[in-house]
Amino acid sequence: MQKISCLNPISKLGLELLEQDKYQVVEENDVDALLVRSFKMHDYEMPSTLKAIGRAGAGVNNIPLEKCAEKGIVVFNTPGANANGVKELVLASLLMSSRDLLGGVNWVKSIAEESDIPQKVEKNKKQFAGPEIMGKKIGVIGLGAIGAMVANAASALGMEVLGYDPFISVEGAWGLSTEVKRAVSLDEIYTQADYISIHVPAIDATKGMLNCEAFDKMKEGVRIINLSRGELVNDDDMEIAIKNGKVAQYVTDFPNEKVAAMDNVITIPHLGASTPESEDNCAIMAVLQIKDYLENGNITNS
Ligand code: MLT
Repeated sequence: MQKISCLNPISKLGLELLEQDKYQVVEENDVDALLVRSFKMHDYEMPSTLKAIGRAGAGVNNIPLEKCAEKGIVVFNTPGANANGVKELVLASLLMSSRDLLGGVNWVKSIAEESDIPQKVEKNKKQFAGPEIMGKKIGVIGLGAIGAMVANAASALGMEVLGYDPFISVEGAWGLSTEVKRAVSLDEIYTQADYISIHVPAIDATKGMLNCEAFDKMKEGVRIINLSRGELVNDDDMEIAIKNGKVAQYVTDFPNEKVAAMDNVITIPHLGASTPESEDNCAIMAVLQIKDYLENGNITNS
């Protein structure tokens, strides 16, 4: 009997795949495998029995990969399994960064008890106006599963899409629309885009890549969407870029004390993959990977 423990709640559609005569889902520590979502494992004491960790999500920066490698623990992630959930929230972010839906809706709530609401609305609504996205240029940085879906969806909404990925050619990216143009460099994205959506993992090469040097190259009033990882952005530099108007709007799925309260910043409480569909898909994929490894020694997506 193999023992598995969940460090975060995991969709039951995944857990149901663990046959009761072969697997026990337990709370104890001496397990063969762990399933985890966003739990930060850097200070977690890895049991000597541990053989594999299944991360129900794409990013693995909550897992100490080097420590796992030293101990021979295989780490799996679930690329693509939550891509549609994230893509849909990117689209909402894109639209919210243009049209001040949050400001407008909150303002109406604030006057909901007052009289003459229709007149007040007509008098005040101008402050919540914003540009359409059709015909504007969006730069999509990173063309993995999520980035490719965002690029296609933005193109379907009538945006001009420039895609950049240092590893994947636009021709080779996952089902990328032929309408998406390939940027030869990040600078091409920075200098041309009205909107930038970033879809890369937080690794040494990418941490803090959206910094003052990058902002300096960008168009005045650029709108930036970051549903990938907070660490990709230098928050001190972002604060300055928002204050001086270089960045007109910043939407992030990673709240932090530096920018969360600022005007022109929309912070979402890490909801990109928080849909029942994405949670089911990630849990199913993570469990199948763990089973395949424990039962057959196969390693996929590690
Ligand atoms: C991811 O890396 O795919 C997301 O952060 C998943 C999550 O929200 O748990």
